[in-house]
Amino acid sequence: MLWSSSLASIVVLAASASAQLDGAQSPPSYPSPWMRGGNGWQDAYAKAQAFVSQLTLLEKVNLTTGVGWEGEACVGNTGSIPRLGFRGFCLQDSPLGIRFADQASAFPSGMNVAATWTTRLFKSRGRAMGDEHRGKGIDVQLGPVAGPLGRVPAGGRNWEGFSPDPVLTGVAIGETIKGIQDGGVIANAKHYIMNEQEHNREPSGSFAAYSANVDDKTMHETYLWPFADAVHAGVASIMCSYNQINNSYGSQNSYTLNYLLKNELDFQGFVVSDWWAQHTGVASALAGLDMTMAGDQGLASGNTYWGGNLTAAAINGTLPQWRLDDMVTRIMAAYYKVGRDTARVDVNFNSWSSETYGYIHPQANEGYQQINYHVNVQSDHAKLIREIGGASTVMLKNVNNALPLKKPKSVAVIGEDAHDNPGGPNACGDRGCNTGTLAMGWGSGTANFPYLIAPVTALRAQAAKDRTLFANVSNNYDLDAAAKAASNASVAIVFANADSGEAYITVDGNSGDRNNLTLWGNGDALIKKVASVNPNTIVVLHTVGAVIVEDLKNNPNVTAILWAGLPGQESGNAITDIIYGYRNPSAKSVFTWGKKREDWGVDVIYTPTSNPPQLNFNEGNFIDYRYFDANNIEPSYEFGFGLSYTNYSYSNLQISKNDPGPYQPTVGMTKAAPTLGTIDKDPAHAEFPTGFRAVFKYIYPYLTGPVLTNQPESWPAKSQDGSPQPRVGAGGSAGGNRQLWDVMYTVSCTVTNTGGVKGTEIPQLYLSLGAPTDPKIVLRGFDDLILDPGESNTFTYKLTRRDISNWDPVTQNWVISPYPKTVYVGASSRDLKLKGVLP
Ligand code: NOJ
Repeated sequence: MLWSSSLASIVVLAASASAQLDGAQSPPSYPSPWMRGGNGWQDAYAKAQAFVSQLTLLEKVNLTTGVGWEGEACVGNTGSIPRLGFRGFCLQDSPLGIRFADQASAFPSGMNVAATWTTRLFKSRGRAMGDEHRGKGIDVQLGPVAGPLGRVPAGGRNWEGFSPDPVLTGVAIGETIKGIQDGGVIANAKHYIMNEQEHNREPSGSFAAYSANVDDKTMHETYLWPFADAVHAGVASIMCSYNQINNSYGSQNSYTLNYLLKNELDFQGFVVSDWWAQHTGVASALAGLDMTMAGDQGLASGNTYWGGNLTAAAINGTLPQWRLDDMVTRIMAAYYKVGRDTARVDVNFNSWSSETYGYIHPQANEGYQQINYHVNVQSDHAKLIREIGGASTVMLKNVNNALPLKKPKSVAVIGEDAHDNPGGPNACGDRGCNTGTLAMGWGSGTANFPYLIAPVTALRAQAAKDRTLFANVSNNYDLDAAAKAASNASVAIVFANADSGEAYITVDGNSGDRNNLTLWGNGDALIKKVASVNPNTIVVLHTVGAVIVEDLKNNPNVTAILWAGLPGQESGNAITDIIYGYRNPSAKSVFTWGKKREDWGVDVIYTPTSNPPQLNFNEGNFIDYRYFDANNIEPSYEFGFGLSYTNYSYSNLQISKNDPGPYQPTVGMTKAAPTLGTIDKDPAHAEFPTGFRAVFKYIYPYLTGPVLTNQPESWPAKSQDGSPQPRVGAGGSAGGNRQLWDVMYTVSCTVTNTGGVKGTEIPQLYLSLGAPTDPKIVLRGFDDLILDPGESNTFTYKLTRRDISNWDPVTQNWVISPYPKTVYVGASSRDLKLKGVLP
């Protein structure tokens, strides 16, 4: 029994090596790179080594393995080191706040903050979330997200991440990580990698999880790109995904973990599995996994691939000591890197009960005590949440100066999406329903709302201030009532939404991924009806991504369209700020709005036709606007589009060349893998202590059976080799070769506010890399310029070597192609106002 997991892993490795459907195979890469402590990790590495050196085998194993589902207070908990008074790690969702906690904030989604295109807000949001997590005693915040990137618009969890553009996502994830970690909490970039749809993400029934099949160039230029930024920003942990990549599971894929992440990107932190994404024992450790969650093999299964099995593997030598030491060093280095040694407070909340008293081991119903201390960590974050809510609202349409409203005579606010959920904002667990106004999607990427300001509440208060006659209708299906309220109003504001989330909850027949790109709850019919009776109909959309809006765009009675995304707890206040002009819209769309579903060229695969389901990313780098551009498809609204209450002009493009010298691939050898302390290989010392009373289903590091010897030695070649290894040419520094960040060109232009009100313009820099195989243009940089009427300012962007390079699969490095490169600066991906060729 003890060895079944590792024997199984040999079988699985062999199976994945022979599974070459569609030619997609993930090459093996061993040994797993050991930490070296470079790039700002020196201090953390030294402290971690000192700490790990004093640990026993059981203590080391305990830090790598979760205690099992609902074993303790957090969504994920590792074992502890009682001898040193060191409690286990607390890992907690989510990317937009603290899941399952009270007295904490519900922030705008990742997609929303991306729509601000404002690095200051990326970072402040990260910092505010980090501060809240720290205050609750959380060690690892399970976010931010760059996988899904957003390849398919119907993908259920796209909103947890930022944008299908890798550069926008890269900047957003990097700044978010810096913010979270400045707060003294370990950030977790997830889900690594190619976790692009919810259907078949996990094995189910006789089906294996899907394999996302991608070529090397696309991997580097699109999907790995933002993870490189995450590593460059110093992210201290990464979560590997459920799905397979080129027919090898994400949490035991030696190519994506050992080669790409730890070798090429030089990642120094630890890799934790998504919950139960681990499918083997020793094999996953050799492939680069450092921590397993939730620790049990399946939800509350009571058994584990690691724990006692990892102890046995270290004793009989199938897991080399250097690898175990590296796993634990990486975990502890992350802890020191963000200052957990001084920032840590006790875990003072409980994910599994909101009661003050309850079980500390909920799965076992053991340890009755105080479990919730109701610590208020919200600070004044509501202000920031409202600011981001407004700054992320994209004005798609505004004719006849319909907006902003100026004390209208009468207003009708229509649609369920403007109203409260009658059961309260947290009525459905993990927001697994679509009732009332939508301010976040569903699943593990959620938080409990401390309160939720519905749009009707804030708009009614504004109307009362203005002495505006106010009516509201909440039933989307009572079209007569809607028409009646709307027909005589000076303005009708219709709210509608579209929701999605994580696969384990199905809402209205949508199993995570959306079934279609239309509005939910009769939304399209409702808007049409209202617009048929009111020539000044304003539409507000709370959606998880693109919906089909071509009819609204073309409807003359729809005078304005606002996309408010998933704005979090201050939803109503934020939209009122925009509608009444307290804030000038500045947001730009972070995805393309196609006219029909087929326009994106790729879609969710709902019903697999092979096993494992093969998701062939044949479109390569051509996702979202890159696909629309390449195929001359006109969208309703393009990537980067967004209107303002003022106008801007662009002039005076300047390009200057820099000479940072030639690119030098990284050469040389690493040091040999260090070992820390000695491992006591006497199995008798690794057994449950006499009289030990184990908590039911709790995962321990103790042996659960005899340690087998003479095990088959058919481990992958070099997987146990701790001798010095060649360094990777494209690697050598956080996120890749440090010269990738050399500045090659400085591009600047003047942006002027030519209208009558103050505003923020987001100049965007796009680049044509020039080869026939390249997308027409790719985003490279952006800024947010705050301008008074008549004021000008300079937009500057420094193009790096990475920005102007392509990935070359032959030399396995970044190269600058000989094709002429053109730079554009403009107000969207299709409003390229200035153009110049790189000299
Ligand atoms: C599975 C989800 O994919 C992941 O995002 C989350 O962090 C874990 N569950 C823990 O809840």
